[in-house]
Amino acid sequence: MLLNNKVAVITGGASGIGRATALKYTNEGAKVVVADYNEEGANETVELIRSFGGEAVTYKVDVSKFGEVKALVDFAVDTYKTIDIMFNNAGISRANLINELNEELYHQTLGVNQHGVAYGIAAASNKMIGLGVKGVIINTASVYGIMASRGFFPYHVSKGAVVMMTKSAALDLAPYGIRVIGVAPGFVSTPLIKGIREVEQHKNYHMRKEFITPEEIADTVCILAMKEANVVNGSVVMLDDGLTSFKGHLSK
Ligand code: NAI
Repeated sequence: MLLNNKVAVITGGASGIGRATALKYTNEGAKVVVADYNEEGANETVELIRSFGGEAVTYKVDVSKFGEVKALVDFAVDTYKTIDIMFNNAGISRANLINELNEELYHQTLGVNQHGVAYGIAAASNKMIGLGVKGVIINTASVYGIMASRGFFPYHVSKGAVVMMTKSAALDLAPYGIRVIGVAPGFVSTPLIKGIREVEQHKNYHMRKEFITPEEIADTVCILAMKEANVVNGSVVMLDDGLTSFKGHLSK
């Protein structure tokens, strides 16, 4: 098993990439706190995990609130005695042009995607340092944190921040042996992309001309958490099937 007895907290664990990662981690021997504000979805994830004998518990959290994220990390340590891996993955995506900026939507997006990740890094690293754990913190950025697409201003801003938070936090936490990594998925077949206009076309942005599956992202997020990936630190790893490496050709 690749993550035997490791303790992981996964935000956004009720759906998509977070759920797939919770299944992968527990399948590899980790104990997981499945955290999400969608309690029902998180419970379903835990049921799936328990059906194959994996170890996981649910925790309801709104990652945009620092107090709740600190309480989540406390809960993980109370339950499983330590924390080795923090996967700051919860996120939302809504279309909004800069010239029609909706103040509420802008703050909501930054609250979850940007501040939620900052709070996750802060709470987990503080706890890891206190416990003397040389842990790993993985943040979900996006190809949209690297390149722009028309009409997604708040999302781009929030994911660009995740890229820089990853570098900055990695530097601050290196003295404690804590690694901080970002992952930047391309288009992954989850509920998050359902609202995109002409979404089916978007698979053609990938080398394989297929959507990436949440399980494929989970596989890499597992490898990155292993000590064998120790030299990956402060980097944002592109999990995009080449999307950012070539000029997309939607028509083919
Ligand atoms: P999803 O919609 O399937 O899962 C997102 C989860 O985050 C949901 O379970 C939702 O309840 C949870 N969540 C949202 N706001 C929350 C909050 N305030 N507190 C706690 N939980 C909250 O979407 P998916 O695709 O699995 O997204 C996971 C991450 O991957 C997000 O950060 C997203 O931006 C990122 N991403 C997704 C891509 C895709 O194509 N699906 C591409 C690039 C990045």
